[in-house]
Amino acid sequence: MSFTADCLLLFGATGDLAQRMLLPSLCALDADDLVAPDLRIVGTARQPLDDEGYRAFAREALEKFLPEDRQPAIEGFLQRLYYQPLDANETGHFADLAAKVGPTEQGLSIFLSTAPSLFGPTIAGLVASGLAGENVRIGLEKPLGTDLGTSRLINDAVSAAFPEDRIFRIDHYLGKETVQNLLALRFANLLFEPLWNAAHIDHVQITVGETVGLEGRVGFYDGAGALRDMVQNHMLQLLALVAMEPPSNFNATAVRDEKVKVLRSLRVVGRDEAVTGQYRAGAIGGKAVPGYDEELGKDSDTETFVAIKAHVDNWRWQGVPFYLRTGKRLYKRVTEIVVQFRPVPHSIFAGRGARSQPNKLIIGIQPEENVSLSLMAKVPGLDRGGLRLREVPLDIAMDDAFAGPKNRIAYERLLLDLIEGDQTLFVRRDEVEAQWEWIDAIRESWGEHGITPKSYTAGSWGPSAAIALAERDGVTWHE
Ligand code: BG6
Repeated sequence: MSFTADCLLLFGATGDLAQRMLLPSLCALDADDLVAPDLRIVGTARQPLDDEGYRAFAREALEKFLPEDRQPAIEGFLQRLYYQPLDANETGHFADLAAKVGPTEQGLSIFLSTAPSLFGPTIAGLVASGLAGENVRIGLEKPLGTDLGTSRLINDAVSAAFPEDRIFRIDHYLGKETVQNLLALRFANLLFEPLWNAAHIDHVQITVGETVGLEGRVGFYDGAGALRDMVQNHMLQLLALVAMEPPSNFNATAVRDEKVKVLRSLRVVGRDEAVTGQYRAGAIGGKAVPGYDEELGKDSDTETFVAIKAHVDNWRWQGVPFYLRTGKRLYKRVTEIVVQFRPVPHSIFAGRGARSQPNKLIIGIQPEENVSLSLMAKVPGLDRGGLRLREVPLDIAMDDAFAGPKNRIAYERLLLDLIEGDQTLFVRRDEVEAQWEWIDAIRESWGEHGITPKSYTAGSWGPSAAIALAERDGVTWHE
């Protein structure tokens, strides 16, 4: 379906995501003339506002969340905004919404971020009011269900109204520049691919560490937990990009065909291959922070940390563990992928007493975007006391390498692709379902074995059992 929408309909237009991410992203795209001059943006939510009221609301959000140098663009951008209040349970409201949106022949893109219970009524309302026609595509923000069953219900409801090529499931990690760069690194260079397999790679580590806690998302987070909030989507997408076979093209079908094969090859996680944790009071950056239960205001068994030893059961990755870990209130905010290569088969320097370390590729995704390859080099000197080798990094800081182009936030990319209709960076239904299948089996095993989160101090790297999970294999987490 290739058309560029001339209207963007934002559900959840007064929500946190809209304020922090969507409005600032759209304003930035507008400022750089990346959207058509006649693109209209219609916001909808329950709040009873009119166009002017919503513009005032958006101005406040933009002044707060848009970088200083972008602020001059705000006034012009606000003129694109319109608003229609809507209660998704009131069928009649959708007719008013359709009237506000106007004809959809020229293309409409919908961004739907709503409570799971409102998916059904919202889709039904869109269909009844003629907002699900041929030239309409829909972007879906998570959470899309809480397990395979509920995710299927949502997907069934959406696909009864929209074909798969007009459904855009959002995983905002795919909008991150460095995540896309993983593909460039792997498939635009000859260097890595011949070594990218079990013969040469010992293991892979994927860490997504956060220092924030609940951030006021009490209702949502306590019902979700780290496994469903972070591993089911973002971490499995990262794993799939690291492990997939080379697609024949950089297009939606080829890329997603390869990712889903990886997701379907994930081995069921063994009882001893997952560790869960929940933070107790501690300190982050020298500042005292409360424990999870205190933030929540009640006792809870929800995990705020999870570490998993995963396996991809195919030829390329047989015997190569993928260690995944993510958590709230960890020591620092960092997302990185570490590819640990195997040692050289024979060290010619051993006879001279020199020790050599296996190479390591570190792909930093955030906050710093960099790629670092550790290489062995000879320590300069005449070697009278013996030859010495030392690890030296070959470092590329993306900010330095590309000082010119602007750093775009993930939603700028994804909103633009949604408006223009490119699905490459969106998740297909079969991927989501393979992800849930694997996650559900982990949760079932926790239930069966009565596994509850171990506590860890806020500001640490999680429970000691997570360290042991890797150490048992002689692996140390990269920190
Ligand atoms: C969201 C999760 O999907 O990703 C949040 O719901 C998490 O809990 C966030 O904080 C992390 O995103 P980022 O882009 O800050 O790494």
